[in-house]
Amino acid sequence: MHLAQTIAAEAVNQVLAGRNLNEVLLALWPRYPQATSQQKAQAQHLSYGTLRFYLSLQALLNALVEKPLRDDAIASLLLVALYQLHYDQAPAHTVVNQAVMAVMRMKKVWAKGLVNAVLRNFSRQQVALVKALEQDQTTTLNYPAWWISKVQNQYPEHWQQILLTGNQHPPMTLRVNQSQLTGLAYQQKLQAANISSQLLDTQTLLLDQAIHVTDLPGFNEGEVSVQDYAAQMTARCLDAQANMRVLDACAAPGGKTCHILETAQVQMWALDVSEQRLARVNSNLQRLNLQAHTQVADVAKTDAWWDGQLFDRILLDAPCTASGVVRRHVDIKWLRRESDISSFAAQQKEMLQALWPLLKQGGKLLYVTCSIFAEENELQINNFLQTHADALHLPLLELPHNLQIQKGQFIPNEYHDGLFYALLQKH
Ligand SMILES: C[S@@+](CC[C@H](N)C(=O)[O-])C[C@H]1O[C@@H](n2cnc3c(N)ncnc32)[C@H](O)[C@@H]1O
Repeated sequence: MHLAQTIAAEAVNQVLAGRNLNEVLLALWPRYPQATSQQKAQAQHLSYGTLRFYLSLQALLNALVEKPLRDDAIASLLLVALYQLHYDQAPAHTVVNQAVMAVMRMKKVWAKGLVNAVLRNFSRQQVALVKALEQDQTTTLNYPAWWISKVQNQYPEHWQQILLTGNQHPPMTLRVNQSQLTGLAYQQKLQAANISSQLLDTQTLLLDQAIHVTDLPGFNEGEVSVQDYAAQMTARCLDAQANMRVLDACAAPGGKTCHILETAQVQMWALDVSEQRLARVNSNLQRLNLQAHTQVADVAKTDAWWDGQLFDRILLDAPCTASGVVRRHVDIKWLRRESDISSFAAQQKEMLQALWPLLKQGGKLLYVTCSIFAEENELQINNFLQTHADALHLPLLELPHNLQIQKGQFIPNEYHDGLFYALLQKH
């Protein structure tokens, strides 16, 4: 068990030094070949949990040591152990024993007494220490101060819901391949495999508990994909018809590309700037038995890839701060800087401007982000409309009633992420 704690501590330490959690974990697995899949799952759980509640845990640690710890690896180990004690409510003697074993594994014998004392003191003073967290919004809500005030300003009605949802475990939502079977028929397959779910829409199921994708019946046969409920609205809003020329400008890993192709036999161009990520589009197309022209390209540099023929539909699922999917990418809260918002907004603007001339008259462009910040969403689109007289902002019609959406912004909740949609038509 202390192996999971050791791996999680190392992952947390690297993320706090500025690295991406997914990449860190992928690089760590080969270094621990002895870790079982259960230990890996536990290490993942601990690293996600610790980073989700990092500011609370850091405040608890600060209160338990006389001066800031100089050793980052030991500090991260203590954060993970405090997470286990406070949030997982794991038995104190087990957590303390594991942490001491982890210290030995890290060859930092000097820290044995310190780790032992800090964790035992936490158990003794837990109630008062946890109460003290309430004195500061950042340690209650676990977001940077700038993030909290931005969400409060932009969502006076929903800010608490948005921030609290961002600290929950993400839902696992399925998109049932409509060219193969209905959501109801697939739900019966799940039931037969003892997997319980809720039907959100004709092709959408929400699992009661997250499971490994390969445990989903028919996954390899392309019957089902994992995709957020709000993300599943792309195909519907884009309304692509058979034989249309469709551009998916930022396609990887291909969730939306494949969904569009499941709904209509279009001529799909799927581009992405990252070769590594585009490979995931190709493997998803293969699993679902779908065809598309895929190409590594920077979409903003149209001279380098465009064949001169206009598109009927364009999907621009733009790179963004990902502030609307923070419960899936817990490291974002600590890696993003407020100044990143304007850099992303500038890049999105450049992409919109480069792609608009490639759209046919009467054609539609769907702009999507997985952000909740207005600068990347409503303000971005308002700015675009002011400078493009031939662009009409269309309403999003016929969306299911159980989606929480206002002015194109999905408000993140237990059913879906915080995506933004703007549908533009050229006239
Ligand atoms: C939000 S993700 C797309 C998710 C995808 N549409 C899906 O539903 O699976 C944004 C993607 O944009 C890509 N990207 C970033 N800059 C780009 C550029 N200049 N040209 C093309 N793709 C770019 C990133 O590599 C990333 O894969």
